[in-house]
Amino acid sequence: MTTFAQLAAATRSYRSFDRSVPLTREELAAFVECARLAPSSRNLQMLKFRLVTNPAECAALLPHTRWAALLRELRLPPAGHEPPAYIVICADTRLAPDPAPFQRDVGICAQCILLAATEAGFGGCMIGSFNPDGVRLALELPGCLPPQLVLALGKPDEAVRLTSPGPDGSIAYFRRDGVHMVPKRPLEELIF
Ligand SMILES: Cc1cc2nc3c(=O)[nH]c(=O)nc-3n(C[C@H](O)[C@H](O)[C@H](O)COP(=O)(O)O)c2cc1C
Repeated sequence: MTTFAQLAAATRSYRSFDRSVPLTREELAAFVECARLAPSSRNLQMLKFRLVTNPAECAALLPHTRWAALLRELRLPPAGHEPPAYIVICADTRLAPDPAPFQRDVGICAQCILLAATEAGFGGCMIGSFNPDGVRLALELPGCLPPQLVLALGKPDEAVRLTSPGPDGSIAYFRRDGVHMVPKRPLEELIF
């Protein structure tokens, strides 16, 4: 049995995917079901979730996303390892004209989706660095549903490992022997 702590540890940011394993709309919808049940500011539930599985739409979306800013020398995702699916979290401005106070909701829903994806044997990456106009045009999003966060999803085919901060305290992620290393601060540094 997987404990929640194990699921949380396995839920990493993945930036390379096995293209031979698609994700269906039904699978994506099951992940969104977990977000549907999440806590919500004022219980307004003002987020909407655009599912993207169509290969042409995936290809149109990718150029408007930025990956692993700290590893600029790498082209991520690598060619041929692009995500086969996305969930774009949008704000329904008909329910709340200003999405700014609802960014916590976005984060909560995003992590619910990534946890559900991990449990189902998939993985992904939150992409906050995206071109909103490009994403809007690529997916023909209505003006009342501006994109807030892009979630890339698929079957990860890269190794990601957690580690401790470097001797200089660096928490910058890095690659070692092809493994993506993610330093996490120790618990005693977080709790006060
Ligand atoms: C709100 C948010 C936005 C993020 N945006 C990006 C992004 O635009 N591109 C990217 O490659 N990673 C992005 N990430 C992933 C982080 O880089 C990643 O969480 C961090 O390196 C730690 O790795 P881990 O998720 O495996 O713990 C984002 C993460 C969060 C929480």
